[in-house]
Amino acid sequence: MELFGWVHVKREHGGVVFVDLRDRTGLIQLVFNEEWSKTSFKSAESVRPEWVVRVTGEVRKRENPNPNIPTGTVEVWVSDIEVLNRSKTPPIGIVRQEDASEETRLRYRYLDLRRGDMRDNIVARHRISSSVRGYLNGHGFIDIETPYLTKSTPEGARDFLVPSRLNRGRFYALPQSPQIFKQLLMVAGFERYYQIVRCFRDEDLRADRQPEFTQIDIEASFVEREEIYTLVDGMFETILSECYGKRLETPIRKFTYDEVIERYGSDRPDLRYGLEIKNFGVLAGLEPKSFVTDGLKAGNRLYGIAAPLHEAVTRKVLDGMGEQAKQEGIGLFSWLRRDGETASGPLLKLFSKDISDEIEAILDPELNGSCILLLAMGEQKNALEFLGRIRNKLGALTKKPSAGELSFLWVTDFPLFEYSEDEARYVSVHHPFTSPTEEDVERIRSDPGSARSKSYDLVLNGIELGGGSIRIHNRQLQQAMFDILGLGTDESLRKFGHLLDALEYGAPPHGGIAFGLDRIVMMLQGKESIRDVIPFPKTTSGLCPLTGAPDEVAPSQLEDLGIRTETSE
Ligand code: AMO
Repeated sequence: MELFGWVHVKREHGGVVFVDLRDRTGLIQLVFNEEWSKTSFKSAESVRPEWVVRVTGEVRKRENPNPNIPTGTVEVWVSDIEVLNRSKTPPIGIVRQEDASEETRLRYRYLDLRRGDMRDNIVARHRISSSVRGYLNGHGFIDIETPYLTKSTPEGARDFLVPSRLNRGRFYALPQSPQIFKQLLMVAGFERYYQIVRCFRDEDLRADRQPEFTQIDIEASFVEREEIYTLVDGMFETILSECYGKRLETPIRKFTYDEVIERYGSDRPDLRYGLEIKNFGVLAGLEPKSFVTDGLKAGNRLYGIAAPLHEAVTRKVLDGMGEQAKQEGIGLFSWLRRDGETASGPLLKLFSKDISDEIEAILDPELNGSCILLLAMGEQKNALEFLGRIRNKLGALTKKPSAGELSFLWVTDFPLFEYSEDEARYVSVHHPFTSPTEEDVERIRSDPGSARSKSYDLVLNGIELGGGSIRIHNRQLQQAMFDILGLGTDESLRKFGHLLDALEYGAPPHGGIAFGLDRIVMMLQGKESIRDVIPFPKTTSGLCPLTGAPDEVAPSQLEDLGIRTETSE
């Protein structure tokens, strides 16, 4: 048998050299026995880790099987070895995966990707995208490409611009998503489109954000929301069963936006833990201190969240939460500890009357009266969102989720608009092509803030995996949306004239969704950062330590483009 690969580990035992040979599929033990083959034994003595070799030999049953690797019952006795290339000592551990700095890992990414864990992530990524392709192909979707050199689509981030040499002074934008093109493909009559496609957004980077990332982008004609939910439920059922041998309960549960905000203080709650927010408004009747009464009269609300007693929720943690409350403009943050019959904590002092019965009535019976209760008073959305963040902290402190636990949910019926104080205008919660619900079409002008949209997000363990909507397919309504968003007719024609025109040529009703493939792989592989599932990612400051991008360019290149740069020096 002939094998090619890298020397993973070498062990010498007087007269015998053992080498673990590695390739993409894993490891196998090679045996170089001096008595069996003198020449190969001699060569094996000189090989070093990460050298590339070709060996020929005989497969034999191992005397001491290694149950930890799939090839552990056999070994290859080597009769001939050829060194195909040598290697310097790698700057990062490939066998013992000790922590190298991210900078070094990215600088030597080709070595980092040799590490078993990283290789598994990249292979999983391939399997997940293959599974998605198989599923969508099987459901009548066709893969169609859309341009990278295009005009900006508003997805809320800055565009990456590409100067045009042939049209000096003009710029292409790299797509933040193929949104408008996929809608145009629906007008073109393709009915079911998908693409696993790179998108580009110049935004602040985090663990789940990269400047270029990959979407599973889907659009279909003649569909309503329920059909998208069913399609996507089936897609995740397929990914989980084909790639992880796991069963997903479908249909995935659905909550409206209002419901998740009211119950969990977030539009992407992590439902691996309960910890529901409750309205504690009844406490207003128990003679609270005057600043509480005044706050409530001014329209503030009292909400609370109770967690099981846990040693990790220390005084220091509670004080930290109090600080956070102040910074977030929460008028009141207080807490109490209940341990069976006894209660203590600053919250008790806020009321002249005994509050135990009222609290008992609201608390989850599962807590059996023992809990740490945190109370916040503030403007409704602010107080709920504050407690939503507190909920995440409490969840992380008090409940260790079992490994591999996946808690999916749909969040539906987002508001169509939200008011941006900074820009002093309404902005889209999803994007301007999202359709209002039928009941709210009439209200979009009279009371834009209250209109709901036919939109949906899919959330997994507190991370937004994807989002989409049923689209507007009528020019007048689309123009009205642009008006409300403060785009004048001229500007909307300049930016979106091509879409507005297309809507007048028999545009079918349509809708779709896009998922972050990187996020899906990150979550299913149990990783904390999408950088671990992208072969060549950027650092959080948008740099590529491997190539040194972004880099300066030759003056002649800039001259061709008619660009002069200003540097800070
Ligand atoms: P949206 O902007 O919500 O929708 O993007 C869809 C999904 O893409 C992923 N994502 C990202 N992943 C990594 N890095 C980023 N910077 C990044 N930005 C977004 C997220 C997100 O849920 N055209 C619409 C979809 C539609 O309406 O069909 C869109 O792009 O997982």
